[in-house]
Amino acid sequence: MIKIAIIGASGYTGGELIRFLENHPHVEIVGVSSRQHVGKPVYKVHPNLRGSNLIFEDLNPNSIDADLVFTATPHGTSMKMVPALLKNGSKVIDLSGDYRFKDVSTYEKWYGLDHESPLNAVYGLPEIYREDIKKADLIANPGCFPTGAILATMPLSKEKIVDRIIIDSKTGVSGGGISPSESFHFPNISDNINPYKIINHRHMPEIQQELNEFSKVKVSFTPHLVPVIRGILTTSHSFSNEIDTNLNSGKLLKIYEKQYKDEPFVKVLELGEIPRLSSVRGSNFAHIGGFEIDETGRIVIISAIDNLVKGASGQAIHNMNLMFKFKEDEGIDNYGLHP
Ligand SMILES: NC(=O)c1ccc[n+]([C@@H]2O[C@H](COP(=O)([O-])OP(=O)(O)OC[C@H]3O[C@@H](n4cnc5c(N)ncnc54)[C@H](OP(=O)(O)O)[C@@H]3O)[C@@H](O)[C@H]2O)c1
Repeated sequence: MIKIAIIGASGYTGGELIRFLENHPHVEIVGVSSRQHVGKPVYKVHPNLRGSNLIFEDLNPNSIDADLVFTATPHGTSMKMVPALLKNGSKVIDLSGDYRFKDVSTYEKWYGLDHESPLNAVYGLPEIYREDIKKADLIANPGCFPTGAILATMPLSKEKIVDRIIIDSKTGVSGGGISPSESFHFPNISDNINPYKIINHRHMPEIQQELNEFSKVKVSFTPHLVPVIRGILTTSHSFSNEIDTNLNSGKLLKIYEKQYKDEPFVKVLELGEIPRLSSVRGSNFAHIGGFEIDETGRIVIISAIDNLVKGASGQAIHNMNLMFKFKEDEGIDNYGLHP
């Protein structure tokens, strides 16, 4: 049994961490932190958690007694707490962007902040860094868009069969967190599709960084807000400078099946099947499909994830399971919801 604490537990990803971890057989939740809701039971903020006995406290990062702390806090906030948590002897899984970049100047450029406490972290995408995650004290949990985009395109970069990738992602509104804002106001989001940050979203360099671990692909990324609560559907269009006329759907499918055959949370669909947002809702699974190539050489691969689960809290728990040598899918092996 390990002791864990969650900072930012009143937010959407914090709520999802509680939902999964309360049923995890090897975890005791010793603290759930919120500054705004001190003294309230967690179900007053997360009504789906009625039945939980956990009460919000304003935990001081300098004195948390836990084997592992999840920082489900905004970027710029995590960097203020993580050094103290590590110094205290806790391992840390940070859900923000603060520790995702290998080069701190890339972080500072895209997040518009000076980094107060750069540290070496392992990028917590188990499908690439499983062995490093097992030994890590600090995990930078990947961004939601990067998770869907990297899983959809990494095999192409690894096989060095593309030079250019265009990522087009549609996200549900829970991606923006629990605080209300004009973009998420019902009349603005409902019955609508809103592209935003069409060439300069900060998840672009994160996708680029990870795909460049395999080859020098150039990435473009455009996100869209769609009127659903959860999920990210990513359509990737990949191109090569030299078209391989022998490449076809069957060969593409084989590349993906080989890459993900031992992965507990990546499901490669059959030819002709298209991933659906609704099939992964509430689950840690990524569905990948498409595997089409047209006469111009454009390869289309599509992924679907739940931004709050595989794109955040479920993946964080997968990382925890690896760090503490629990069964890899312990506590997060449930299917999504249908309908
Ligand atoms: N939503 C997603 O789909 C998603 C996916 C992947 C990664 N992420 C990342 O995960 C992190 C959390 O996201 P979220 O959607 O759960 O955000 P959220 O719903 O806005 O919740 C964040 C929580 O952090 C706490 N907080 C804010 N400022 C703080 C501070 N200075 N000190 C301590 N606590 C503070 C707040 O709780 P109190 O005010 O009650 O203390 C708030 O409830 C973010 O970095 C986000 O980018 C989110």
